[in-house]
Amino acid sequence: MSQESNPSAATGGAQVLDGKATAAAVRSDVAAGVEALVSGGGRQPGLTVVLVGDDPASQVYVRSKDRAATEAGFRVETVRMPADSAQADVEATVRRLNDEDAVDGILVQLPLPRGLDSDAVTELIDPAKDVDGLTKDNIARLVLGQDGLVPCTPAGCIEICDRHGISLAGKDVVVIGRSHLVGKPFAQLALARNATVTVCHSRTRDLEAHCRAADVVVAAVGVTELVKGSWIKEGAVVLDVGINRGEDGKLRGDVDFEGARERASAITPVPGGVGPMTIAMLLANTLETSRRRQGRG
Ligand code: GUN
Repeated sequence: MSQESNPSAATGGAQVLDGKATAAAVRSDVAAGVEALVSGGGRQPGLTVVLVGDDPASQVYVRSKDRAATEAGFRVETVRMPADSAQADVEATVRRLNDEDAVDGILVQLPLPRGLDSDAVTELIDPAKDVDGLTKDNIARLVLGQDGLVPCTPAGCIEICDRHGISLAGKDVVVIGRSHLVGKPFAQLALARNATVTVCHSRTRDLEAHCRAADVVVAAVGVTELVKGSWIKEGAVVLDVGINRGEDGKLRGDVDFEGARERASAITPVPGGVGPMTIAMLLANTLETSRRRQGRG
């Protein structure tokens, strides 16, 4: 979407980066890829989600994944296991899915219930089916700049930039948050795109000063409106990964959207920004693993 076609740009505020529309475009590309794979004699790609326990937020995520994957033409299965499942049983499920040829992608929904070792479970996933990009093999590939599978949320941030003509090359990028799922992998992706990357976290001494100097701010900490509008440099790009539910039931990001949009050149809203991209990139990753596993990559 060009600056000109965005109505908010005309009012002097930032271009609001529409994650819902961008995700729909990615999903439509994936659906076309699935159709081409199948019509070319390939097998329908299969995604299996493992959901342990009954965490309400995880149930919502898993239902959305199921729906989006079905719509894109995947064969989808959700394996539900009780919250008090033994570590050995969860691990046995992953091993079984590793051995099933029709399963191209395995996603173990996180967090796992207390008492389960999620690192041990994740590490068992066959790296060729690791559509979350969380195994050591895929993390090493990301760090080494080799082809591999990239975690969906940071991949979605990059995809939003790519599809809006936003380049990271040479930019000062400040990532707030050092999680395995978002902050660390995003930092690697930005580095690979020749950004100068600073990773801030809870022990950072002067977060405001880092933000004020940033060309791109990526907020992924899960603290409602931690980043103030006044911290955003004029013309900066803001990618808000936070999804925080307030006492009023509304979703808010890690950035004060109204304040930041006055100064930024482009910003993702919450909801409807980075969030929808996560599932879209999961589908893109699953199509990729399926193609590779079928020798059609
Ligand atoms: N829980 C919240 N986000 C994610 C994700 O991207 N992958 C998995 N597996 N679990 C999550």
